[in-house]
Amino acid sequence: MKLKIHVNALQTISSDVLILPLFEEDSADKLAKWVKKFGQTLEAAAKDFSGQKGQTQLLYPTEGRAKRLLLMGFGKTSDATMESIRQGIAASAAVVRNVGAAKVTMALPGCFLETADVSQALTEGLLLALYQFDRYKTSKKEVLFAPKQLGIWTKSQPNAAKKGAEAGKVVAEAVCRARDLVNLSPNEKTPHILANEAREDAQKWGFNIEIWEKKRIEAEKFGGLLAVNLGSPEPPAFMILEWKPEKALNEKPLVLVGKGVVYDTGGLSLKPTKDSMDHMKCDMSGAAAVIATFQALSRMDLPLQVIGLIPATDNRPSGNAYVPGDVIRMHNGMTVEVLNTDAEGRMILADALSWAQQYDPELVIDIATLTGAQVVALGNFVAGIMTNEDAKAQERLTLLQEAGMRSGDWVHPLPMFPAFGDLVKSTVADLKNVGGPAAGTITAGKFLEHFTNYPWVHVDIAGPAWIATPRHYQPAGGTGFGTKLLIEFLRMRVQQADAKPEISEQAELA
Ligand code: BES
Ligand code: MN
Ligand code: ZN
Repeated sequence: MKLKIHVNALQTISSDVLILPLFEEDSADKLAKWVKKFGQTLEAAAKDFSGQKGQTQLLYPTEGRAKRLLLMGFGKTSDATMESIRQGIAASAAVVRNVGAAKVTMALPGCFLETADVSQALTEGLLLALYQFDRYKTSKKEVLFAPKQLGIWTKSQPNAAKKGAEAGKVVAEAVCRARDLVNLSPNEKTPHILANEAREDAQKWGFNIEIWEKKRIEAEKFGGLLAVNLGSPEPPAFMILEWKPEKALNEKPLVLVGKGVVYDTGGLSLKPTKDSMDHMKCDMSGAAAVIATFQALSRMDLPLQVIGLIPATDNRPSGNAYVPGDVIRMHNGMTVEVLNTDAEGRMILADALSWAQQYDPELVIDIATLTGAQVVALGNFVAGIMTNEDAKAQERLTLLQEAGMRSGDWVHPLPMFPAFGDLVKSTVADLKNVGGPAAGTITAGKFLEHFTNYPWVHVDIAGPAWIATPRHYQPAGGTGFGTKLLIEFLRMRVQQADAKPEISEQAELA
């Protein structure tokens, strides 16, 4: 998909579909102006169109160079956010497909948001909505149409519009990469296939990767990862991704840890099939988000040193599988009593978090489809975030929440009071891997905390990683959740360091 920025008069843009987002406040004025540019069809349309949120109207102009116009209502300007723009533009994807529009142009609507942000959000919303996972479709007929060129029309600040659209394209493509990895069938998603996919990305985009085989994992005594892997015929893998530009702003690295359970049957504590095991190929969504973030780091050339750690295995029952009652010695030497083999995510993350200690990191963020309790607490809209309680805890949570608001990957903090930690104390070992029925997301967080000795945020994405019913720019299946969150968080980290005051100008639709 090619990007193009247009600044010439709107009626001179040749396009198969020219998308015109409109806010309620200025909808009538703009439509009146456009009658001169596009002809009388607009006059009739103006009577039916108010800019109300969700309204769409396809028109065939009698003047101007666009073949079709698509009016889209974006609601009240005052309600506009990057996410409302992403969600708003998503409905245009169906029209673009239905008419087979090879050349699509979106006009930037003027509002109080930054031009670059509006341009980024529009680009992300459309590209994400156009995503289709067609790997397993045999018939070409089922493969949906995709446009070739995406134009952005702006009345002012073309450079900001261009930067925003380019960032939006990188973000959307990263999210789509994460979705592809999540949607991959379990029979072709072994730990080493996943590792090789990451290696291909590393080669394609230019970041470093090291992949450990089982021997190295044994040598490093990753007891949690090895225990979970016991039931599987496929060996585990441990990936170390690295983005280390010369001009990095951060002295200590940022570390991203992704849960890479390529399939979670529950192990001997077997999951029921329906609405549970049936979508557990999504249990490497954290890993997918981390892998996808690295391509964005590289494509955006962000001046940050970042490490990615991904423990990968499946979790299966077999004669050799780890059993409830097993006591496992972890990489950091602590012992864990396994009381439920389905609480495997924390077992493999614990080793990765211990390994992260040697980097003396500025911050570690782990991202994982960790608990069913997260889905109960926050549904599939919002991820739960938890952090260790030091002086900067609140600041970290606030920053991640802000990245969540901007990226549309919403997150919300859960409390980490010491009392929750008592629930994962074991009578026979240092810890047990389940905390009982209450506050399951937090007790999982408390478990992980024992393996950290640095500033750390845990992101539980069990709910938002996967949706059974499509919504706005998310088709059913893997959502790629967490990818735009991490990318936005890292971009914000760069901006903080730059601390350049931003010049705010406003673009306005002609
Ligand atoms: N992968 C699951 C969590 C999950 C649930 C992800 C729903 C996506 C959607 C995790 O490994 C798990 O099974 N957690 C258990 C832990 C329990 C046994 C303490 C759970 O939440 O039921
Ligand atoms: Mn599980
Ligand atoms: Zn799991």
